[in-house]
Amino acid sequence: MKLIIADSYEAASLEASKILLEQIKENPSSHLGLATGSTPLKLYEYMVADFKENGTSYKDIKSFNLDEYFGLEGTHPQSYRYFMMENLFNHVDILPENIHVPAGQGDIQENCDAYNAMLATEGVDLQLLGIGSNGHIGFNEPGTPFTQVTHCIELEEGTRQDNARLFFDGNIDEVPTHAVTMGIKNIMDSKKVLLMAFGENKAEPIRVLVEGEVSVDVPASVLQNHPDVTIIIDKAAASKLTKK
Ligand code: F6R
Repeated sequence: MKLIIADSYEAASLEASKILLEQIKENPSSHLGLATGSTPLKLYEYMVADFKENGTSYKDIKSFNLDEYFGLEGTHPQSYRYFMMENLFNHVDILPENIHVPAGQGDIQENCDAYNAMLATEGVDLQLLGIGSNGHIGFNEPGTPFTQVTHCIELEEGTRQDNARLFFDGNIDEVPTHAVTMGIKNIMDSKKVLLMAFGENKAEPIRVLVEGEVSVDVPASVLQNHPDVTIIIDKAAASKLTKK
């Protein structure tokens, strides 16, 4: 596990963008596992800026997003598909057929089976992750078995509160109660993992991820068992680490 403690959100995001761009340059047909939420917003800004300035191409890139809210259409402004279109995909040359986001509507079991089958065939080269204040990765909430693949899960109240803070106009009642998410097994199957975390409320899950016990109580702790993980955090998220 490689840990980078950056001076600021901007510096951390720039560092993360270098890792993603390196992956794309090394293998222009990389399969990228992507995340949403507030954490990667700046990173995606840097990716878009790079595309404009340097033309790094995504035409052979395939993307596989971690999760989607249950019940939201991809055209809903709070859906994760919409988030990805707005913050990255509409601004680079990725092909629409190469964009994959779990479907939050329709026959959910059928959709999850299809997403799992696709991930098993395609594989993910580099998986980008944020982390929940409760230690979730994707929307795998505490207690999710490490063997779990893509599934529909009930979101914890705290997760819905966190997500209402920056999105959904601050209204928790608007945040769906469930989400479809890649499982921990899918995440662990990726070749490389890049996890980012910022702010005080990520300090405790980061402590457990970096130096705590591996347990389903803090799902991100499973990454201790992954062979190639880079963690980029700011000082606030690093504030509970004891082993300097
Ligand atoms: C998002 C995702 C989640 C978020 C996590 C942190 O696709 O899978 O695990 O990464 O909830 O969210 P933010 O970045 O908003 O703090």
